[in-house]
Amino acid sequence: MSAPYITGFSETPAEITLESLPIQGSFPQWLVGTLIRNGPGTFHAGSQSYRHWFDGLAMLHKFSFARGKVSYANKYLETKSYQSARETGKITYSEFATDPCRSLFARGMAFFFPKITDSAKVNVARIADHYMALAETPIQVEFDIDTLKTVGVFNYEERIVGQMTTVHPQFDFSTGDVYNVVTRYHALSHYNIYRIHPSGSTQRIGSVPVMNPAYLHSFGMSHKYIILAEFPLVVNPIHLLLWLKPYIENFRWEPARGTPFTVVNRHTGEIAGRFECDSFFAFHHVNAFEKGGELVIDLVGYDDASIIQSYYLNRLSDEHNELPAGTLRRYRLPLNQKRGRVRSEVLSDAFMELPRFDYERLNMDSSYRYVYASSINPDQRSGFYNQVVKIDVTNGRQQTWHQAGCYPGEPVFVGRPGRSAEDDGVILSVILDSIKGNSFLLALDAHTFTEIGRAEVPHPILFGYHGEFFPPHPTMHSEGS
Ligand code: CO
Repeated sequence: MSAPYITGFSETPAEITLESLPIQGSFPQWLVGTLIRNGPGTFHAGSQSYRHWFDGLAMLHKFSFARGKVSYANKYLETKSYQSARETGKITYSEFATDPCRSLFARGMAFFFPKITDSAKVNVARIADHYMALAETPIQVEFDIDTLKTVGVFNYEERIVGQMTTVHPQFDFSTGDVYNVVTRYHALSHYNIYRIHPSGSTQRIGSVPVMNPAYLHSFGMSHKYIILAEFPLVVNPIHLLLWLKPYIENFRWEPARGTPFTVVNRHTGEIAGRFECDSFFAFHHVNAFEKGGELVIDLVGYDDASIIQSYYLNRLSDEHNELPAGTLRRYRLPLNQKRGRVRSEVLSDAFMELPRFDYERLNMDSSYRYVYASSINPDQRSGFYNQVVKIDVTNGRQQTWHQAGCYPGEPVFVGRPGRSAEDDGVILSVILDSIKGNSFLLALDAHTFTEIGRAEVPHPILFGYHGEFFPPHPTMHSEGS
């Protein structure tokens, strides 16, 4: 039995370029720029199949907006792993949860970190004036935003030390600096915190030693601090040295460790505190800020890490599969102490993932109010994400958009230039319409959360992860000042 949304986990039929998509309703005249979405373009290499939602070969999708029109193009990221899969018809690079078939001889010859995928499919960002596709390895693959052509792996001047990174760099728009955390696996491992200057030079600003590193998909940042929530999904680095199993399967859930929060001063690199918390897991931090002597951290949390098992494709292809519920949670750390316990509360019990907010204006700002996310309707609990939700973090109130047979991707907020209200803008989400068999780009009014327009793509777009809206001339763009 296969689920109605299974085309979202198959293979993109073609690379196409369309000057203008058919539109129902309308897209605002003020919406000018480009939405880039990243994610898998296929879950197959020849006759072989990848095993997990986080595997597959990267494909970029581009929606450009001008004068109420929407254009579209899609293209594979042309990396070594992509070329090798095309030439050999086989999976030849290790992915998140899929390893190539290896002979015993090759297995014996493998050493620390074998051929890891360079198919950077998880996120996109504009860093140091370049458009980058981001992966969980510290490589960044540059692409041309106009043609979607792959430029190549971007080389920073200074070497980044470590093998795995979060795919959610944090931006400080007041300085133009970008921050990320890179894990270096070793006998004594470290979480290395890097700052990338707008010039492209990189600097390691801090390092947190750890015996059994946690799987970190993102981290928190406030005006003063970098926050690492060390979920007890941990790895003994010797298991990565041996590499007998795909990357993520070397990690074990050890809830007795709890989920300690390590706080690092991002200006001095010093460890400012370490706080105890009961075990939980998260992929995505949302926002963090300092307020009233506390460090406040919002994220989409789970009671355990079973969501990773739920994303294996054999589980997702069963429409009766129930994904574990991620909920929007708030954690408060007492800043006047170096140690202590974290207080936590659930801000909304809506089931959600892929959270977004008005990051450009309100990252690190305690006045932020709205979070947008992909969500699961409680009346249609099994299957995949089937609605878009907006949460008011001040009172838990929620607004939703859903349509029968439709499966929304990450909702990206784009603010109307000159706005004063936080939710004056649009939400853009790629939706798989399982009844019609193709995808469309949905535009919601972010305030009323009602549909204002949709632009129809002639083929299905596979379920991706993250994307970003880029205005046409970011260097000249002074909005938000
Ligand atoms: Co992510």
